[in-house]
Amino acid sequence: MGSEPKLSVLFTRDEIEVAVNRLAAEIRRDYLTKHPILIGILKGSFMFMADLIRRLDFPLEVEFVRLSSYGRGTKSSGKIRVVHDVQSEIRGRDVLLIEDIVDTGTTAAFLLDYLSQKEPNSLKLCALTDKPARRQVPVNIDYLGFTIPDKFIAGYGIDWDERFRHLPDICFLEDEG
Ligand code: IMP
Ligand code: MG
Repeated sequence: MGSEPKLSVLFTRDEIEVAVNRLAAEIRRDYLTKHPILIGILKGSFMFMADLIRRLDFPLEVEFVRLSSYGRGTKSSGKIRVVHDVQSEIRGRDVLLIEDIVDTGTTAAFLLDYLSQKEPNSLKLCALTDKPARRQVPVNIDYLGFTIPDKFIAGYGIDWDERFRHLPDICFLEDEG
């Protein structure tokens, strides 16, 4: 408690930019004429979403969902509620869910199930990072930025205890002690 975590860069802003450009090209190829709805999961996806959609030069809409907090610190509780829902009709639409990290898979699996009940025409997942070593619920990631090791990351929108979201690089917290 109280000690400052030590951060090391895992992916630089330049590496992130390359990955986001690649994802944008993949998404453009698949959604060019579909007028998709991109749904970002708050808060962690906000910076990724902002950079991604700036590279998409075709009609699309942006929505956000927010789930109940996973709690403080670095452990997930596994309990989820929707606290801010999608505002527009997604029935019949092509929907792309935008996530910062797929860790245990609980969040993404929950939202894919939740959104599929609203009967979109299609539903896919784009994740900036994937931590497969921690997976508990199987999740298919259609568009992936980075596979990451089993480390706690922060920066580029992603928090540690609500801190470090503003960092332009993706960093990992070094183990203490
Ligand atoms: P999951 O439900 O276990 O897949 O976790 C998804 C959410 O947990 C992510 O959207 C993050 O908000 C959070 N999370 C998981 N791993 C990390 C991490 O390394 N750093 C920061 N947040 C994380
Ligand atoms: Mg989070």
